[in-house]
Amino acid sequence: MMASPAPGAGARPLKIAVFAGDGIGPEVMAEAVKVLKAVESRFGLAFELTHGLVGGAAYDATGHPLPPETIALARSSDAVLFGAVGGDQWDHLPLHLRPEAAILGLRKAFDLYANLRPSVTHRQLLHRSPLKAEILGDGVDLLIVRELTGGLYFGQPKGQQVYEGVERTVDTLVYTDAEIERVARLAFDLARARARRLCSVDKANVLATGRRWREVVTRVAADYPDVALSHMYVDNCAMQLIRNPRQFDVIVTENTFGDILTDESSTIPGSIGLLPSASVGAGGLALYEPIHGSAPDIAGQGKANPLATILCVAMMLRTSFGQEEAARAVEEAVSKVLDLGYRTPDLLDSGCETVGTVRMGDLVAAQI
Ligand code: IPM
Ligand code: MG
Repeated sequence: MMASPAPGAGARPLKIAVFAGDGIGPEVMAEAVKVLKAVESRFGLAFELTHGLVGGAAYDATGHPLPPETIALARSSDAVLFGAVGGDQWDHLPLHLRPEAAILGLRKAFDLYANLRPSVTHRQLLHRSPLKAEILGDGVDLLIVRELTGGLYFGQPKGQQVYEGVERTVDTLVYTDAEIERVARLAFDLARARARRLCSVDKANVLATGRRWREVVTRVAADYPDVALSHMYVDNCAMQLIRNPRQFDVIVTENTFGDILTDESSTIPGSIGLLPSASVGAGGLALYEPIHGSAPDIAGQGKANPLATILCVAMMLRTSFGQEEAARAVEEAVSKVLDLGYRTPDLLDSGCETVGTVRMGDLVAAQI
């Protein structure tokens, strides 16, 4: 999917920009880096890691959540590993200075137009899912492809205005055909490599953009006769994800719907602390981030689950670097540690040993 030159012996090191961010970001990132080092020695790869400031940490140090040096560092890198941003102390800031502006700015700067959010249950943790056993069957494996640089998040005009003497506020929901088409193509390509079923989610019964979304996706489908395309309204999809998530293979949807549906689907595996994501675009640079936030309530306590960020390392190895074997090794190491009965507090289970962030990272690294 991405250009993935597999580096051979003597190849230049793979440059990774590490943006740990705020809250639990630095804690979980330290464990992901530990795992990356283990991969480096086991598979004879060379990584060059450079840390950069993002989010509230960057605002405090430089007055901006996404300073130019951070963008420059990302630009000169092969991939970005991102932790999490945000915290109460920055909530009073205007939107463009809030920590969240850093992730939105990176998405826009690098045209990261698709966010890949898998929701995969781990067999050891099936009973942790809020869904009933009969709904889960032997597990859920779905992938949501969220459009990431269009729609309400970026549409103009945006903000407060006076219209016919009345104070009002607008956000603009706008999509070009090209924006819909490129994310649809990517989703079809991904579905092709999986179970060949794509469900396109929209609100075509009410929104003009939804209607057009459906038309463009249907047009693209002509190039993918081997993929079964279905359409679903977003409200129904929110329900179906809980009622029968196993009906889905790949879902593609616009930005705001994807934001909401991916938080919903993240609960299926049992903890949001387990889920990685990849943001990919046309430029070749991809950004990997756990889908959980900065969790200020548990920051600094050493109990955050680093597995989502560690699984981001696996996604990065596979998607950006074409290192399938190394990616599998990371995923298998995570699975083995769960088999051995180690759990961070978010996954606490009777008969299991509770471990903190650092120990969990050590255990996974040791399996590699
Ligand atoms: C996400 C987050 C972001 C979003 C926030 C932090 C801007 O919720 O990645 O899903 O809304 O896209
Ligand atoms: Mg979100």
